[in-house]
Amino acid sequence: MTDNIILRCEGVNKLYKQGEETIYALRDVSMTVRRGEFLVLYGRSGSGKSTLLNVLSGFDTPTAGKVHIDGQDMEGMNDRQRAKLRNEKIGFVFQSYHLLPILTARENILSPLLIGKRPIDEGYFRDLCETLGITSRLEHLPSELSGGECQRVAVARAMIGRPAVLFADEPTGNLDKRSAGELIRLLKQAHEVYGQTIVMVTHDETLLEYGDRVYRMENGTPVLV
Ligand SMILES: Nc1ncnc2c1ncn2[C@@H]1O[C@H](COP(=O)(O)OP(=O)(O)O)[C@@H](O)[C@H]1O
Ligand SMILES: [Mg+2]
Repeated sequence: MTDNIILRCEGVNKLYKQGEETIYALRDVSMTVRRGEFLVLYGRSGSGKSTLLNVLSGFDTPTAGKVHIDGQDMEGMNDRQRAKLRNEKIGFVFQSYHLLPILTARENILSPLLIGKRPIDEGYFRDLCETLGITSRLEHLPSELSGGECQRVAVARAMIGRPAVLFADEPTGNLDKRSAGELIRLLKQAHEVYGQTIVMVTHDETLLEYGDRVYRMENGTPVLV
């Protein structure tokens, strides 16, 4: 039933105008994400994967169509309302980590709660850091961490606010093969331990097996595989 659907979009289009040319980055996208599922979206470069994540997560607005997340309709929200919704409902992991260089790992992880003036659940924080294997790295700056560690810190930051949906855009794209494998296993573990709903984008077909459901992005339209 609809209770099970945590994210829904209907008739979403995204157009970019570049001079005379119009680029259809998303074409009439309708899809759902179920609570607790690990959804994987893959497809070649330029097929619209990042655009879709940005629109689903409220970083960007669609040219047309609707996005509902955890019972809230993003249509008609102003920037402040969307920022609040993102802070409360969305976790996002970027390919290039986007950690703040002057903050320690601990401070980076807790930053969404500080920004949103939300209470810190110390027990959950400790537990999450254990699960992601970063407990001994918390007092270090990002420059003192490996790429794999930086990305695990970024995952902890994305999960600290218990978001409705965790989005990850090519989270292993900057990692070597071994660190990439480790990160993906940790994401899967976090998914299983906390029931975290995850939407992950990749162009690496070896990662498709991690998805409960897999969509292939074809010219701006996701097709269920
Ligand atoms: N800000 C933008 N302005 C113009 N075109 C864009 C912009 N962002 C993305 N595009 C275009 O939209 C299409 C989809 O891009 P993107 O979502 O980044 O694909 P992917 O993440 O699958 O590589 C591409 O043709 C890209 O060039
Ligand atoms: Mg992309």
